[in-house]
Amino acid sequence: MKIAVYPGSFDPPTYGHVNIVERSIQVFDKVIVAVATNSSKQTTFTPQERVEILRTLFEKEPRVEVDGFEGLLVDYVKKKKATAILRGLRTVYDFEFEFQMALANKKLDERIDTVFMMTDAKYAFYSSSIIKEIVRLAGETRGMLPPIVEERLKKKIYSKKGR
Ligand code: PNS
Repeated sequence: MKIAVYPGSFDPPTYGHVNIVERSIQVFDKVIVAVATNSSKQTTFTPQERVEILRTLFEKEPRVEVDGFEGLLVDYVKKKKATAILRGLRTVYDFEFEFQMALANKKLDERIDTVFMMTDAKYAFYSSSIIKEIVRLAGETRGMLPPIVEERLKKKIYSKKGR
């Protein structure tokens, strides 16, 4: 059984992430969407909220599991008996960071490979941080986020603003 771990912050998940998961289950038998819970990044949603949102998004995909992880990614990959780390690539700007991360993970465990999937061109400019900025400035985000994510993001950002 070929298992891939798709790690990330997913703060929040966008259609770009959904597209990668949907295409990756054509390649792997099982994909574990793994939310980093101890990231140093300031996040809008708590790790539990992000796991819950992702579980709702993929509830009809029996081959997609959603989980949270902390500590080293390679340790989590081993624990889940996965053989690959899956990452999406949007533009060349992603490349340098992704290349560094892939090499660092390979150095930590040479049996684990990172597999990159190019994001569908129509999602190439979607990033969670750009979308959050658009919501904060009351711009239009239709078509960028699944409706349940859009609704929760607006609620979260506008309730913070109102404080
Ligand atoms: O969506 P992001 O923020 O680009 O995801 C980055 C993530 C969570 C995949 C990365 O920070 C990570 O793997 N963190 C776990 C800690 C770790 O293993 N670090 C060493 C390898 S870079």
